[in-house]
Amino acid sequence: MSQSNLSARGIFTSKFGIIAAATGSAIGLGNIWRFPYVLGESGGGAFLLVYLLFIIGIGLPVMLSEFIIGRATRMNPFGAFRKLAPGRPWFIVGIMGTIAAFMILAFYGAVGGWTLEYLYKSVTNQFAGKSADEMVQMFESFRGASYRPLLWQIAFMLLTFLIVIAGIEKGIEKYSKILMPILFITLIVIAVRSLTLPSLSDKASPMAGLKFLFRPDFSKLNANVLFDALGQSFFSLSIGMGALITYGSYIKKSDNMGSTALIVSLSDTFAAVLAGVAIFPAVFAFGLNPQAGEGLVFNVLPSIFNSMQGGYVISILFFICLTVAALTSAISLLEVVVATFSEELGMSRRKASVISTLLITLLGAVAALSWYVFKDFSVKNINDVTGEISAFNFFMILDYISLKYLLPLGGLLIVIYLGWFSPRDKVLKELSNEGKLKVNYFKVLMFLVRFVVPIAIIIVFLNEVGVF
Ligand code: TRP
Repeated sequence: MSQSNLSARGIFTSKFGIIAAATGSAIGLGNIWRFPYVLGESGGGAFLLVYLLFIIGIGLPVMLSEFIIGRATRMNPFGAFRKLAPGRPWFIVGIMGTIAAFMILAFYGAVGGWTLEYLYKSVTNQFAGKSADEMVQMFESFRGASYRPLLWQIAFMLLTFLIVIAGIEKGIEKYSKILMPILFITLIVIAVRSLTLPSLSDKASPMAGLKFLFRPDFSKLNANVLFDALGQSFFSLSIGMGALITYGSYIKKSDNMGSTALIVSLSDTFAAVLAGVAIFPAVFAFGLNPQAGEGLVFNVLPSIFNSMQGGYVISILFFICLTVAALTSAISLLEVVVATFSEELGMSRRKASVISTLLITLLGAVAALSWYVFKDFSVKNINDVTGEISAFNFFMILDYISLKYLLPLGGLLIVIYLGWFSPRDKVLKELSNEGKLKVNYFKVLMFLVRFVVPIAIIIVFLNEVGVF
């Protein structure tokens, strides 16, 4: 591809640029909103252990595979597979990725909206004087008895759209570099406060929260925990649907993709664990239920803010940073659709951005109102381990199908393609920048990509449908 053509597609101008963008994509609501509540529902420490194993053994190799495919082809996921395997059905991975982007961004935008509402609530000092129970009430009535989730979801999607259309470098990259470190710092401050909350009893204490998070209770380990941890690890790392193929396609040929993937995975995992340390000690100290579902962090964090010096300012800072973290993730989801529409359907970037944002916002509107107008639109879900019956609304269905099926399946196909259908020397050439970098982990990587990752994903699936 000629240089002018390359710059027309856009490129990350520095290694720091790609790290910032990929970390920005990875760290988001997945770490701070979703990780804690899924861990809470899956029984704590056992989930964390499996999650960490999956990040290292599965997530990291998949991430690197996506970077390799993206940079080798300089294409959107659909185009990448068409170019690599012309006339064969691998482009389906690209189609699945586009579908996943639609579904994920639809509910992601809804949660992004909740975050904006909570930013508004903190600025207008609405947490002051409320008890932990009243916080739960406040969240439920916002989500289940008003149109506000829709208004905020539209606002969030509009922000996402404005950034994507303006180009990534000058907007989001610049602000992320400042705001992401602030997010880490506020999380640490919140974690410290959470850990130092007064205990009511042994069970209702910050220590009990830490035990819940870090002490694996292997009796809680079952097929569902593995399934949850797999979906969560893919979601958190932004892998399995080609977002990082797309970002990989903007990486310079002289940048080291291996160390980039390692740095991104580690920071992402650090952010999730830090969120856990911020949330669980407080959940237990306030005597709340860790199985509160999607509302968990919105119920718990405001109570922490209420009980700390400077809580008003910290809460505003925190929700600003969380909004930015959510935006840097949302743009990577939208970017997949925009790159695919513009390159494959021959639309201008502008037109592709408008159309995809409108379609996703429409789908997201149903997600945002899933606890209100569309609350009866639900399917019964039977937990095949516990036999518990629960109702899944539209939001939950989107989350369930995309995270539990589309992402792991996409990841499986990506590593199978790279491990079994692409020439090994070409992979090495791409990964080593044409031999300029030493890649002494190459054998390990290929072993993971060819055997460990596919087998592990298949086992988790078979386990879930009850084959073993
Ligand atoms: N990783 C992001 C988060 O944790 C969400 C996200 C962004 C994502 N891009 C993605 C998830 C691509 C899956 C695929 O919040």
